Amino acid sequence: MPLVPMKQMLDEAIKGDYGVGAYNVNNMEQIQGIMRAASETKSPVIIQASRGALKYTNMAYIKYLAAAAVEDNPDIPIVLHLDHGNSLETCKQAIGLGFTSVMIDGSLSEDSKTPTTFEENVKVTREVVDYAHRLGVSVEGELGTLGGIEDGVGSGKVMLTDPDEAVKFIKLTGVDALALAIGTSHGAYKFKVKPTLAMDIISKVVKRVPEVPLVMHGSSSVPQELIEVINKYGGRLEKTMGVPMESIKEAIKMGIRKINVDTDGRLAITGAIRKYLSENLDAFDPRKYFGAAREAVYQTVKGKMIGFGTAGHAGDYKPMTLEEMKGIYK
Ligand code: G3H
Ligand code: 13P
Ligand code: ZN
Repeated sequence: MPLVPMKQMLDEAIKGDYGVGAYNVNNMEQIQGIMRAASETKSPVIIQASRGALKYTNMAYIKYLAAAAVEDNPDIPIVLHLDHGNSLETCKQAIGLGFTSVMIDGSLSEDSKTPTTFEENVKVTREVVDYAHRLGVSVEGELGTLGGIEDGVGSGKVMLTDPDEAVKFIKLTGVDALALAIGTSHGAYKFKVKPTLAMDIISKVVKRVPEVPLVMHGSSSVPQELIEVINKYGGRLEKTMGVPMESIKEAIKMGIRKINVDTDGRLAITGAIRKYLSENLDAFDPRKYFGAAREAVYQTVKGKMIGFGTAGHAGDYKPMTLEEMKGIYK
């Protein structure tokens, strides 16, 4: 099957009452680890690339790596999604590459730092929706801002989503999915103690727009075991906490359908490579340590696919083409 539109995948997740992980990728080993986990657990999957990933892979590589994932896994629905698009131009570029879904993060200006007004956010999101829907491509918007800064992305300030504004935003823009800010942040250093997330925001929005799937960014759990492996083999990460799986499960129960994970993949890879190279001082075949990294991504993502309830749902529906989606948007 070709790459599938995200709208259908998340609408199905609403029907089946489960969450779908959206995993950030930058290279072949990450994609292979994620796809092995999806294939073994029979999970639909969202592979997402940030602007940083597009730059790192020089764009063509990400396109063809996703095509390889499709060819290698004909029975798994796969979405290729742009993470944190900062402008209509970036979204157009991703759609031109064959992405079946884009995020326009209109909560921040094009510099990906300065928070925008509600009106500015609506305007740019509406423009992207108009452009993408004509081509059958799905759109995720964001209202409210997360804390944390990753490679220059993020204002560093938290502004939780106002549920009334969220309902208005969905109606004004026509987005297929909306990212809410409920207290999470990007990166490894999210919390010092077990977090309390603003779960009520999810239920307030779901009550009024149950048909629109909601998204949680900054959803890495930052497992202690991964931090320990990194530090045991020469790393120096400070004590930190992420979003526990229990909180994610609670959020899914309330209506979160897309769960964004990047940091946990990074930690798994870093730990595996540090461990391999520390234990094999004479090693210099990159396939050995990249292979260990790929295995670590597989293990980490497999646990999430089971935890989020995605496992077993790959064959629930016949994926639609972008051509068919165009008809739905008309
Ligand atoms: O939300 C940000 C993601 O973790 C992507 O990070 O821009 O460093 O690729 P990146
Ligand atoms: P983490 O940093 O928690 O993995 O979040 C990733 C994310 O939200 C990507 O958009
Ligand atoms: Zn994000």
